[in-house]
Amino acid sequence: MMPRMTLKSGEKISALALGTWGMGGGYFSPDYSKDAKWIEAIKYAISKGISTIDTAEMYGGGHAEELVGKAIEDFSRDDVFIVSKVWPTNLKYEDVLKSAKQSIKRLDTYMDLYLIHAPNHNIPLEETIEAMEKCIELGYTRYIGVSNFNVKELEQAMSLTKKEEIVANQVEYSLLNRAIENELLDFCKKNKILVMAYSPLAQGKLIRHRKFGLLEEIGKKYGATGVQVALNWVYSKGAQPIVKSENKKHIDEISQALNFKLKKEDIETLDRNFTGKRFLFFLI
Ligand SMILES: NC(=O)c1ccc[n+]([C@@H]2O[C@H](COP(=O)([O-])OP(=O)(O)OC[C@H]3O[C@@H](n4cnc5c(N)ncnc54)[C@H](OP(=O)(O)O)[C@@H]3O)[C@@H](O)[C@H]2O)c1
Repeated sequence: MMPRMTLKSGEKISALALGTWGMGGGYFSPDYSKDAKWIEAIKYAISKGISTIDTAEMYGGGHAEELVGKAIEDFSRDDVFIVSKVWPTNLKYEDVLKSAKQSIKRLDTYMDLYLIHAPNHNIPLEETIEAMEKCIELGYTRYIGVSNFNVKELEQAMSLTKKEEIVANQVEYSLLNRAIENELLDFCKKNKILVMAYSPLAQGKLIRHRKFGLLEEIGKKYGATGVQVALNWVYSKGAQPIVKSENKKHIDEISQALNFKLKKEDIETLDRNFTGKRFLFFLI
């Protein structure tokens, strides 16, 4: 059974989310070559209990959202939780509304959670937040949140909301990047803001890391794989791992990643061995 995580509102969503970066193309560039495979992968993940699906208007220039829209057709709408994001150049009031409208057209349904993909200090956050709240009023989304916001930016966003609340902050978090442990993770927990952890496998780099053997070694105690240990570690810290996969075998593995509870001593061993300092940052 897939564990659940609780939003501020009390609503429960799957503790693991599926990412869609790379499905349907890259940075604002659609690719239609593997549509059937991508749609099948998203459907398969949902059937395995990974019912939170993360996408963005930027992914494949919106084509990833179209794939998500197609994949969820066979499921009851209440059984999936769709997250999408507005790109930082579209954060003026009217632009947010326009982007949201286009996203729901491509998804062919409302969004459950709409995120500001990253801050843009050239556009007043006040007008962006006002527009995000309007998106709830218009029925475009049920909740709003942010992504790649630090504590100061998050505090500002929270102080600007008038009717709604910021329910989530989507940020990078893995054994190879533990920057959010400095203050953001605790701040979010204290304020009941869901931490959605992107790139929990460091885009695959963790699997190729020289210390990956340690994860496999720990996994043996639980009958789990190294990938499952990596995702379970993120979850043990109170964050929701968002993993991208378009491979059914990998999805099988991911979907079982939270079926065991890492012991304190194993979490400590991982903490000691992975300092989490990375030099590269990709915004996708
Ligand atoms: N808000 C933001 O700014 C932001 C930034 C980055 C990412 N994200 C979101 O977070 C999602 C996840 O992050 P990510 O895509 O950067 O990286 P990731 O999930 O850490 O890694 C994805 C890579 O790992 C591989 N993989 C997945 N499961 C595997 C398994 N069981 N065994 C071996 N390889 C496996 C995938 O290949 P296969 O497909 O072949 O399985 C893919 O190459 C994104 O898709 C996106 O939705 C958001």
